[in-house]
Amino acid sequence: MSEIRRVSGRRVWDSRGRPTVEVEVELGDGSIGRGIAPAGASRGTREAIDLRDGGARLGGFDVQRAVAGVNGEIAPHLAGREGTDQAAIDAALVALDGTPNKARLGGNALVATSIAVLHAAAASARRPLWAHVAAGAPVTLPLPEIQILGGGAHAGRRVDLQDFMVMPVGARSFAEALEMTAEVYLAAGSLMKAAGKLAGVADEGGWWPVFDANEEALELLTRAIGHAGFAAGRDLAISLDIAASEFGAGGRYALGLEKRQLDTAGMIDLLGGWLAAYPIVSIEDPLAEDDEAGLVEFTRRFGDRCQIIGDDYLVTSAARVAHAGAVGAVNSALIKLNQAGTVTETRAAFEAARAAGMSAIVSARSGETEDVTITHLAVGWNAGQLKVGSFARSERMAKWNEALRIEEATGAPFAGRGALAPRR
Ligand code: PGA
Ligand code: ZN
Repeated sequence: MSEIRRVSGRRVWDSRGRPTVEVEVELGDGSIGRGIAPAGASRGTREAIDLRDGGARLGGFDVQRAVAGVNGEIAPHLAGREGTDQAAIDAALVALDGTPNKARLGGNALVATSIAVLHAAAASARRPLWAHVAAGAPVTLPLPEIQILGGGAHAGRRVDLQDFMVMPVGARSFAEALEMTAEVYLAAGSLMKAAGKLAGVADEGGWWPVFDANEEALELLTRAIGHAGFAAGRDLAISLDIAASEFGAGGRYALGLEKRQLDTAGMIDLLGGWLAAYPIVSIEDPLAEDDEAGLVEFTRRFGDRCQIIGDDYLVTSAARVAHAGAVGAVNSALIKLNQAGTVTETRAAFEAARAAGMSAIVSARSGETEDVTITHLAVGWNAGQLKVGSFARSERMAKWNEALRIEEATGAPFAGRGALAPRR
């Protein structure tokens, strides 16, 4: 009864107005699941590759070939298979694609299909998705990591760093965490407007700053927390995604805003100085994905007091997470469905992080949609942390709002500060 009866792909549109792949899966019992592929802009080189049509139309971003692959190849390949056996479905998808990086059918086609199958199985079990993936294990509401200022590739490179975020470490519930963040988001906007530093809203909904130095953003963020009536560090702490692969390679880092170049040691000293001066609890991709020695050195120096997350460096690969744990390159893993390409491989990367004693953050991409799957995975896997972008634009708010509903329905505890690495 829960065998796959129908798989259909269609083109829908993401938060940047670009085409993306939606897949709908129907099981024999009539249960329906749907998934939409997100899209990154600052991608790791080892991620699953999206299949895009190229050419001049729609900036080359169209996904007609990926959708055709869903309807022409994936649908017949999955028809009749057991829809509740996610691991077998995902293995069949990987085998059908046949490439190491999912380039043939496209990571976008595969991830949308995999997500749709998961939703259909949850519907068949008549359970919300979070409960389906939890399978009876305890769950928590995640500590959110919420962008206040957006930079890097998401804001015309107006500042070099990509995400200036807050984490409401003093909140007692997810609902309170969002309310605290809302106050800081408003405060940051008005402080920037008053100072003539506001250029608009970046790709993930954060304020788009016009600053002369990267550190100005840190000062503004710290002031905004205080302006909103909170204690920086105790109530809300700062979290950064440096996304260093965007401006660094081969051990050279070009800070365009400040017109200077740093080597690995210079980057480590710069970030170390910020760690000493600001209430920062988490730093993502402090060095480029090709700078493992730098990451190891950074984690050796600061990993006992700060969460150090690998995103472009780990690309949600279980093997890369295990290796990073063995060499001590990071103490936390960002978990993105479309970097891995299937739900099963994503889960494996998450489990590898747990096995290595790392924290994990389930994360959205800069190109998103109304799909709220990641909120359910963060709760159901008991990941402890969730990164979705800012506190504006409905592709972001849909995911925060879904967590409010889950909190209300479950009464589950809030993961809070204890979810952060280093594990104490
Ligand atoms: P991306 O950015 O989705 O554009 O890759 C998000 C991130 O770097 O965390
Ligand atoms: Zn990142």
